[in-house]
Amino acid sequence: MLRELRTASLRDAPYAFGDSLEDALSADAAVYDAAAARHADSHAATSFILYTEGHPAGLIGANFESAPARRAFVFALWVAPAVRHLRGGELLLNAALEWLVSEGATQVYAWVTDSNTTAMRFYERLGFGPTGDHARSQHSPEQWETLLVRDVSDLAQPAPAQ
Ligand SMILES: CC(C)(COP(=O)(O)OP(=O)(O)OC[C@H]1O[C@@H](n2cnc3c(N)ncnc32)[C@H](O)[C@@H]1OP(=O)(O)O)[C@@H](O)C(=O)NCCC(=O)NCCS
Repeated sequence: MLRELRTASLRDAPYAFGDSLEDALSADAAVYDAAAARHADSHAATSFILYTEGHPAGLIGANFESAPARRAFVFALWVAPAVRHLRGGELLLNAALEWLVSEGATQVYAWVTDSNTTAMRFYERLGFGPTGDHARSQHSPEQWETLLVRDVSDLAQPAPAQ
């Protein structure tokens, strides 16, 4: 499932992501199965799938970078064109943010391609703002990406009273 959704994302919106469809297609299916199995019980990386009427229709990844900074990221967000503007992206993002908060995140970061105004508006609407970090895309050096951040300490549940 992860592989199908990832290749569908890269086919539909290659401008939005740092990796290429060719890489995703040439990777062995077992690589995706292993990632999906890891994501099921990892405390460092996971993915959420959006289902609409029983059909897989979207994807988001969430992870922590390695120590010492251990910043929390969301990435690979995609909603199938047929079901956009129905809050599926928001649902996926909220699921990812809740998971990151439950694993200890207080801030969550996302890299967004500058020309992807839809994604920029989406993230801004959902509370993200610029960090000031701006870098060339590793895979398409002619493209620039902006690092956004959102404070998520407000999402943390207070510990239950003893
Ligand atoms: C970005 C994306 C995930 C949004 O998914 P979605 O399910 O359509 O978004 P939602 O319905 O949850 O929208 C939530 C808010 O985001 C903003 N938004 C979403 N699409 C937008 C658009 N095309 N233009 C402007 N704002 C937009 C709106 O403010 C919207 O709230 P509103 O409906 O009250 O105005 C989707 O457009 C997508 O998959 N794009 C291609 C891949 C991509 O760019 N991924 C991001 C990589 S960083």
